[in-house]
Amino acid sequence: MIKETIKPYSILAQEFDLLVDEPMANHTSFKIGGTADLLALPEDKIQLRNLIKTACELDIPITLFGRGTNLLISDRGIRGLVVITKQLKSKIELIEADSNTKTIIADSGERLSKICRFAVNNSLTGLEFAAGIPGTIGGAIIMNAGTNSGEMSTVVQSIEVLNQDTFEMKTIGKNLLNFSYRHLNLPGIIVSAAITLKKGNQEHIKQIFKHNLNRKNASQPVSAASAGCFFKNPAVGRSAGELIDRAGLKGMSVNDAAVSEKHGNFIVNMGNASCQDILLLKHQVQKIVFEKFSIKLETEVRIEGE
Ligand code: EPU
Repeated sequence: MIKETIKPYSILAQEFDLLVDEPMANHTSFKIGGTADLLALPEDKIQLRNLIKTACELDIPITLFGRGTNLLISDRGIRGLVVITKQLKSKIELIEADSNTKTIIADSGERLSKICRFAVNNSLTGLEFAAGIPGTIGGAIIMNAGTNSGEMSTVVQSIEVLNQDTFEMKTIGKNLLNFSYRHLNLPGIIVSAAITLKKGNQEHIKQIFKHNLNRKNASQPVSAASAGCFFKNPAVGRSAGELIDRAGLKGMSVNDAAVSEKHGNFIVNMGNASCQDILLLKHQVQKIVFEKFSIKLETEVRIEGE
C-alpha cells in the first residue's frame, strides 16, 4: 500500500491539498470501489494543468474520471493519483455560430443535464437524445454517450484538450476527432467543449426531452446504484438488454449484485455489492448469453483499479 510516507506522494498531497486513501465508493454511482492513494478535485484548468504536470514529474500514475457514472472500480482501489473533473466548471457561454445554429461552450466538469437545460432555455435542438444521461459533459464526450436516437459525436464542434506530454492546451475540431461506438480515442484530457445545436421551437424541444425522460424512467432502474447499461449493444440484431431478458437472467444475483428486474442490461448494487460480486455476475451473464445465442456481450462500463 502506497502511503503518505512515500515521498513523491506526500509532496503532491501537500502541494495540492489532496485527499489521501479516499474510498472510491463515495465517488461512483455504483457505490463500489476501494481507496485511491490520492484524490484531487481541481476547480479550474490551470490548477488541473499544474497538478498533472507535477504528478508526471514525480512519476505518479494518473487516472481521470468525471462523475463516475459509467465506472466500476476494483475492491483494492487505485494506486497513484485519481483526478475527478466534476468541479471543473465555470460560466456556460453561448455563441451565435450562424443564422441557424448556436454554440454552447462549457468546462468539461459541467453536468450534461445542466447543458441540456441550458439548450432548452435557449431553444436549441440536438441534445434531446441525452435526456436523463448522468455524468459530466467531458465524460459524455470521451464515452461518446448516446441512446437509440443520437450520440455526443453528432453535436460536438470541438474540444479543448490538455496534452499529457507537453502540458499545453489545444483546441481540436470535430473533423480530427476519432469517435466510435461509446468511445473517443484521445491522447489527452478534455478541459472544455463546444457543442453546436440548431435553433428550434422551445415547446417542441421541451416535449421531446420530456418524452425521452419518461421513456427512460419507465424502462430503466434510474434510482438504483448502477453504472448505466453494463454491456454494449451487439452491432446487429437484438439489444443486450433484450438478450439478457430472453435468456431469463433478470433478477439473477451474486450476493448484493443483481441483474435489474426492470431492464436486463443494468447490473445494480442492492446494498453492499463488491466489485468481485459484479464481475462474477457479469461473467455468468456473458456465459449464459453466449451459450443461448452465440453472442459475446462486451462490457460498456469502464473497469479500473488493481
Ligand atoms: N428490452 C427487453 N428487455 C429488457 C430491456 C430491453 O426486451 O430487459 C427490449 C426493449 O423492449 C426494446 C429493446 O430491447 O425493444 C431496446 O431496449 P431499450 O429501448 O431500453 O434500449 P437499449 O438498446 O437497451 C440503449 C442504450 C441506453 C439508452 C437507451 C434508450 C446502449 C448500450 N444502451 O439501450 O443507454 O438509455 O438505448 O435510448 O446503447 C447507457 O449507455 O448506459 C444506457 C443506458
